[in-house]
Amino acid sequence: MSGFDFSKRDSFGSRMGVIMAAAGSAVGLGNIWRFPYILGENGGGAFLIIYLVIVFAIGIPVMMSELLIGRRSQRNPVGAFRALAPGKPWYLVGMMGIVAAFMILAFYTAVAGWTLEYIYQTLIGGFVGKSSGELTVMFDSFRSESLRPALWFSVFMLATSAIVWGGVRKGIEKSTKIMMPLLFVILILMCIKALTLPGAGKGVEFLFRPDFSKITGNTVLMALGQAFFSLSIGMGTLITYGSYIPKDNKLGSTAVQVSMIDLLVAVLAGVAIFPAVFAFGISPSSGESLTFIVLPGIFQQMTGGMIFAFSFFFLLAIAALTSTISVLEVIVAYFSEQLNMKRRTAIILATGSMFILGISASLSWGMMSNVKLFRLNIFDLFNFTTANILLPLGGLLIVAFLGWFLPGRDSKDELSNAGTLRLRYYSLYRFAVRYLAPLAIALVFLNGLGLLKF
Ligand code: PHE
Repeated sequence: MSGFDFSKRDSFGSRMGVIMAAAGSAVGLGNIWRFPYILGENGGGAFLIIYLVIVFAIGIPVMMSELLIGRRSQRNPVGAFRALAPGKPWYLVGMMGIVAAFMILAFYTAVAGWTLEYIYQTLIGGFVGKSSGELTVMFDSFRSESLRPALWFSVFMLATSAIVWGGVRKGIEKSTKIMMPLLFVILILMCIKALTLPGAGKGVEFLFRPDFSKITGNTVLMALGQAFFSLSIGMGTLITYGSYIPKDNKLGSTAVQVSMIDLLVAVLAGVAIFPAVFAFGISPSSGESLTFIVLPGIFQQMTGGMIFAFSFFFLLAIAALTSTISVLEVIVAYFSEQLNMKRRTAIILATGSMFILGISASLSWGMMSNVKLFRLNIFDLFNFTTANILLPLGGLLIVAFLGWFLPGRDSKDELSNAGTLRLRYYSLYRFAVRYLAPLAIALVFLNGLGLLKF
């Protein structure tokens, strides 16, 4: 058994701090470089409606469940299941979360490192005068180098560790209370600039015009996968954060507010990006090529484009940092509570192992490009396994635990703060965790494995 002194656990100090930390985890690269494109490509407004339904019907119930498990047990994801289901194999769900945390941190921090390279390039004028072909070469050759991607990964990883080193309240809470408002301000300014470009209307149309003909079974599945990744659910990040939430916090409204902030930032990111893409007559694309090739090309044609470019990559870096700290905290909480390490030893060990995994992921197009499993390089393997397997499976098991294992009165007691809150939507929540969410997630799986086709 662990010899960790649980009476000395750190915690969040304020309601605002809880929201900023949890929203910081949720808001990340997933919102800025993935959501806008998925929205535009999959029916705009029509997709937005489906996404909203999924967030409310599945995302929020899963998030509430994680926060509840964490706060009730006051433990890291493994310890939480051990405490709530002693002697049962449920703790394996927590273990799966720890494995997912290592993998996500590795590839996610690698991308975060690229944003630092691009901040640097903006400052030295590295994009100026480059054609889109040249920008493609620039990105590809940067990624296939051995030194720089590893270097930027290391810088980002150390920044992450430095914040976690400060502790839950003085590190995570304090820094997210500064970074999240900053992120909002930058994003709003970028939206204003983008919307005032001539021809911006087409981008807004691409994002929002409802096209119901684009909606298929597959769209629904994509929306579900995106919701899981974007809300940081399914791997215990919110179990860990939940365990630091004070007992008088209303977990239900916290989950709703965090999810709404996450959605808002994703939509605003679309408004900041696509009007600019269309204003310059470029066809939209997604992910890496949009972020690191198309946008730099646009920035350098714009008046004041370098300020826009700097703001954009800085925005990405902050969004990523408030997410990476939440993933590192999962590992650190596990090491210190389950393996009985001092918090600082846990941070050093976690950071050290991340250097090995993360640098390997960073070098997936360079020195490690020959290392492949199932035809995927290390980066793609981590990305694919977490987003498509570990997170949805984790989410499924978490709701199953809540809906079918943990006694209903326990979850009611925790959500109502020991009976002091009137729970208006409890029966809806119960229905979601018992039936709706498990069924919906199971369908995604069967489809993903090719056992069921829509
Ligand atoms: N939610 C983050 C994003 O959208 C990613 C993330 C996933 C963070 C899982 C923590 C846990 O970028």
